Amino acid sequence: MIDRATVERIKETADIVDVVGDYVHLIRRGSNYMGLCPFHNERTPSFSVNKAKNFCYCFSCKKGGSPVNFIMEKEGLSYHEALLHLARKYGIEVVEREVTDEERARQSLREAMFVANEWAMRKMEEDMWQTDEGRDVGLQYLTERGVTDAAIKAFHLGYALDRGNNLTEAARKAGFQLDILKQLGLIGTSQQGRDYDRFRGRVIFPILNTAGKVIAFGGRDLKGGLAKYINSPESELYKKSNELYGIFQAKSAIVSEGKCFLVEGYMDVIGMWQSGMKNVVASSGTALTDGQIAMIHRFTENITLIYDGDAAGIKASLRGIDMLLSHKLNVKVLLLPDGDDPDSFARKHTPEDFKAYVAEHETDIIRFKAQVLLDTVKSDPQKRISAINSVVESIAHIPDPVSRDVYVQECSIILGVPEATVARSVSRARRLIVENIKNQRTLKSYPDTPATNNAPTMPVTPRHEPSQTSQTVSPETAGNTEPTTAPQNDAARMQINPVVMPLEREVIKYCVRYAYLPFCSYEIEDNTNGGESGTRVVNLDVAGFVEDELSQSEMDFTVPLFKKTFELIKGMRDAMTETLSRHRINSEKKYQELRAAAYQEIAGKGLSIPEIEREEKKIETTLNEQRKAEEHGVIKEYAVKHLCSHEDDEIRKFAMDISFERHHLSNIYVKTGNAQLEEDKLSVLVVRAIDEWKNELINQRINEIFRKMREIVGKGDIEKEQQLQAELTSIYAIRSQMARIIGDRTLFNRKV
Ligand code: UTP
Ligand code: MN
Repeated sequence: MIDRATVERIKETADIVDVVGDYVHLIRRGSNYMGLCPFHNERTPSFSVNKAKNFCYCFSCKKGGSPVNFIMEKEGLSYHEALLHLARKYGIEVVEREVTDEERARQSLREAMFVANEWAMRKMEEDMWQTDEGRDVGLQYLTERGVTDAAIKAFHLGYALDRGNNLTEAARKAGFQLDILKQLGLIGTSQQGRDYDRFRGRVIFPILNTAGKVIAFGGRDLKGGLAKYINSPESELYKKSNELYGIFQAKSAIVSEGKCFLVEGYMDVIGMWQSGMKNVVASSGTALTDGQIAMIHRFTENITLIYDGDAAGIKASLRGIDMLLSHKLNVKVLLLPDGDDPDSFARKHTPEDFKAYVAEHETDIIRFKAQVLLDTVKSDPQKRISAINSVVESIAHIPDPVSRDVYVQECSIILGVPEATVARSVSRARRLIVENIKNQRTLKSYPDTPATNNAPTMPVTPRHEPSQTSQTVSPETAGNTEPTTAPQNDAARMQINPVVMPLEREVIKYCVRYAYLPFCSYEIEDNTNGGESGTRVVNLDVAGFVEDELSQSEMDFTVPLFKKTFELIKGMRDAMTETLSRHRINSEKKYQELRAAAYQEIAGKGLSIPEIEREEKKIETTLNEQRKAEEHGVIKEYAVKHLCSHEDDEIRKFAMDISFERHHLSNIYVKTGNAQLEEDKLSVLVVRAIDEWKNELINQRINEIFRKMREIVGKGDIEKEQQLQAELTSIYAIRSQMARIIGDRTLFNRKV
């Protein structure tokens, strides 16, 4: 571990233009730099480097970040290793701090697991080639299936001897901790407590990550047992949904061929690889995930899915295509003749024939979908409509508007629907998708929050002081009816409300982008001074204002990520102040020198005294402005800079997203896309954002009360009716009071 001060020094020294410049040819564009993204294949530059913010970002694949993040991604290093890498580059001496026990334990567990897996892979390879049983059973099986020696070696295929605990014993002798092999799923424990080789008697398919390290194994049964394959369990090394079989062997071919084939199984990968189509990976029999798609996208934008030509294959090929399309991938499908999988097809045909078959039969996914769906519905109008809608939905998932137009044209012909109609439906569907993207982006980073859960949840009740409703509920009524106030326990409060979420997001966005910029100041009564009453001026920065607003209304961010970010911003304020005063000391020196030089120059011009005074005044003004602008920059960039290089992946990604996101939420920016404008309008924007959030909570509350009123109306429960009425009145009071407070503050006391 590196001590904090050194980490800060590395972060401050590493210059993004310089760091990225080692990998990308950068062209200056205004105050930014642009280049071809080093993380995905592209022809027009969408990789932007911002020197002031000291980070980079790809508008297309969304990768990037601080110099540290860039190196992590580019060199495949951990956070720690990336820091060391940069320290070396800039000649910064690193004194390593003691790692905490937990950190050490975690790191050494991972390392030990890699070592154990690597050892097991080598052993099972050796056992296949060098033992009788290995050759007679394992190798024999593979050879019979036509797997070449070259493929066996390239994929490190092996065989686990069928001898109970052969591997276990060998591991013990080699000095491995058996516990680690158990976590990796190489060793199982029987009910009698005996250890055994889990993969025994199987042909072994090691699964490697992109860096070529062994993360898991698949083992194929040879004896007609129950499970055709058993696979390693999820572990510290292996998150099944993020890996693709064959990626290590395929990645350079994917880049050079400019495309990736996706098949279902281990044997399919190997079959195609042998046929000379080395750019092939498998999802191992499960539906593709975002993580896997992102992995493919690092290497290419073109993907061809290969399926059996039977009904199941066709069905499978249509599954998940919207997800692929929204990842900006060009997706094609290839159906093999019924009864064939890529492996069997490869064996029956020469590589040339296979390639020709691919070229002739691979079809654009949307065209394919339109044809298949239409074929299946024939003349049933209801089915036809839903088929058309389904195609429309897929087209709407394509991010590129030009591509959408092309598909609209083509599909209107295939579907036999006027182009204008298709176009209208697509753009309606697209709008909905765009609206949802933001919500999902944030929800997705929360695995325990179902991104698809659109059921409105209870709003968080703003517990504003005038609300005394909870006291008017008598214990009896509260006991035998539904509670009239929204649940306020933690569990309910943590539930994410899909309507409120984007409103919260808007508020946290301004906090991230402008955290410590002075926002407003107002006078408050101050009696703390020896009893003498007076007034005191309170200055609030953007984050401070938000904090104040929230605490006054007893609201809080309900999305954990937002809350965490907000806490970080609050926690960094002191450090920012410190940095600022350091900056001031330095700039004081610098400006004294500049001023002195300028004065000297004026003195040398032989001007009259009034002229000299005028000149000096001018200099003074210019220098002061410069200084202010610099200071402004320091304050403004502080939070963004630190959040965007935060060690927590989630925080970092979120900060990057939110600080680079174009301003398409508010109408003002649609026209100009001008960030300065946002800053100028900040007071309005921030207040409006908080306002909208509060209003939504209040409106939801009001609707809830109305709903309850409707339920009990005419049932003679006067007490309950009155109580609801009282609650309603107090909520209306909160609403108008709230509007007034915000109005006052912004109109009369703002001073930015
Ligand atoms: P397949 O049944 O198509 O396997 O399953 P395959 O690789 O073509 O194997 P052969 O040709 O029968 O020898 C596709 C993939 O689904 C996963 C494996 O990743 C397999 O490669 N699978 C299948 C399992 O994980 N477990 C199973 O029991 C079956
Ligand atoms: Mn097969």
